[in-house]
Amino acid sequence: MTDSRKYNLEELAIAMCPEDPRRILPPVRENHRSILDIGGGAGQTLIALDLGGRSPVVSVDLDFEALSLGKELSEGIDFVCARGESLPFKDHSFDMVICRVAIPYMHISKALTEMGRVLRPGGLLWATLHTFQMTAGELLRHLVGFEIRGAIYRLYILINGVALHYIGRQFRWPFSQGRYESCQSPKGITRSLHSAGFTEIRIQKNSFFIVTAEKNYNNKLQDGFQPSITRLDQT
Ligand SMILES: C[S@@+](CC[C@H](N)C(=O)[O-])C[C@H]1O[C@@H](n2cnc3c(N)ncnc32)[C@H](O)[C@@H]1O
Repeated sequence: MTDSRKYNLEELAIAMCPEDPRRILPPVRENHRSILDIGGGAGQTLIALDLGGRSPVVSVDLDFEALSLGKELSEGIDFVCARGESLPFKDHSFDMVICRVAIPYMHISKALTEMGRVLRPGGLLWATLHTFQMTAGELLRHLVGFEIRGAIYRLYILINGVALHYIGRQFRWPFSQGRYESCQSPKGITRSLHSAGFTEIRIQKNSFFIVTAEKNYNNKLQDGFQPSITRLDQT
């Protein structure tokens, strides 16, 4: 079995098991009729949400193998091969956008701008992110194991996290075309969301790092960015 198939089947098993502490599903409301999952793999989050009756329900990913697996697993979901930074959908197509642990692998300002574009005004974005602590832990593990390449890559992810936090920018991995990866801070992601036209930004940081935000009704960027963060259940 390939790594992609194995990973996505394992994540599906987690998503389907209410007792699993690694399980995290977005809060879909009754008025969320059209739902897009970006970086959705084989659609595991959407499958576990059991969204029968809602339409369209779409999962986007770069990984063709994951999308093929998704097609085997579910008939009610449309699987589309595309980048989160360039979505092949019309403006205001969706009530809700989900992005579970996929934003860290994207060019964040481009991806959030696209998410904002395809959401209807008042539509909800729900995403999970990677913390600095998680990446720092991985860096340490690679250093202890003398895995120098892995350590350098984690250092690059941390530098991008710092750049997003302080200047709202991130850098491309110099050895691969179009590859970006970062960890996120509440301030950095709030700034990026504001710039992409989101309001009502809420950060939840406990065993998961979750952000929710609404697409601005005016669709105008707000003047005078204030990094106001609502933290729930901070530990
Ligand atoms: C950690 S996996 C998460 C998969 C799924 N959302 C889940 O929660 O199990 C990240 C996914 O994002 C996809 N991905 C990475 N960069 C992407 C991009 N720029 N555009 C779309 N998908 C991307 C990967 O192919 C992978 O399936």
